[in-house]
Amino acid sequence: KHVAIVMGGYSSEWKISLTSGQVVYESLDRTKYTPYKIHILEDKWVYVNDQDQEFPIDKNDFSIVVNNQKISFDVVFNAIHGTPGEDGLLQAYFSLIGMPQTSCDFYQAALTMNKRDMLSVLKPYGIKTAISYYLNQGDYIDTEMIIQRVGLPCFVKPNRSGSSFGISKVKSTEELLTAIENAYREDNEIIIESFLNGTEVSVGVINYHGEVIVLPMTEIVSENDFFDYEAKYLGKSQEITPARIDEKTKLKVEEIAIRIYKILNMKGFSRSEFIIVDGVPFLLEMNTVPGLTRESILPKQAKEANIPLPDLFDNAIVLALQ
Ligand code: DAL
Ligand code: MG
Repeated sequence: KHVAIVMGGYSSEWKISLTSGQVVYESLDRTKYTPYKIHILEDKWVYVNDQDQEFPIDKNDFSIVVNNQKISFDVVFNAIHGTPGEDGLLQAYFSLIGMPQTSCDFYQAALTMNKRDMLSVLKPYGIKTAISYYLNQGDYIDTEMIIQRVGLPCFVKPNRSGSSFGISKVKSTEELLTAIENAYREDNEIIIESFLNGTEVSVGVINYHGEVIVLPMTEIVSENDFFDYEAKYLGKSQEITPARIDEKTKLKVEEIAIRIYKILNMKGFSRSEFIIVDGVPFLLEMNTVPGLTRESILPKQAKEANIPLPDLFDNAIVLALQ
């Protein structure tokens, strides 16, 4: 089967995505699949071969021409974090042209990329979330009212972003405006959340051979103020898999993570972040195209579950083709 691994994207996470895509490329079982690296960048959509030659994609049917021969793909492996791979845009395009792809459908992607909307949908199902305050660019910023609502410290986040770009922890009212400006660089909608004092865990949920399973959880202990970009990718954090939490709490988080996957009618990979406060998990966000780099959490969790990467990726492709 010809597999188009799409990577790159238009967001700040594009470089991380290229690494994720490369890991998928290196891991796919060559006896079953012929993988192609497809860079989807703002100025070009191209197939890149091992000699770094580029061949343009025909957007009508997502095909390429190499040596006068047209190659059509059987399936797309989606390794794009952020827009347009994690927010539904590509999902909608592939759905329109009838191309199977490994991530969830366009609506689930659009919803989960939007932290504000996802949390609002899940709250009435009893899923706990931080206390929040939302702002759109241009809104009047009443710092006193915000702090009164969410308290200090608090977190300021772009509503639709990943890898902690644009996120700040705010410890005083004076820092709030700078943090808001910083978040607006990533998105014109932002969310401000109360600080949850507890244990942060990252929870991978996948459909594995037709069954929704939770991978061993990862506990995140950041040397920095929180699990920011540096902590994530420059080794400034400790990620402990499996998380050091008691069995009862673990079962509770697993149950909630699976419930969320089912409520949202998810497909493919997902990795949700929770903070556990006194045994109660609070949902922060969900990633539907989680990082697949060697430093990323989901591949480590799969390893802990004795699922080798070729197997993990093969399973995603088989599901996409069903
Ligand atoms: N958004 C990054 C890639 C992650 O979730 O791993
Ligand atoms: Mg994220």
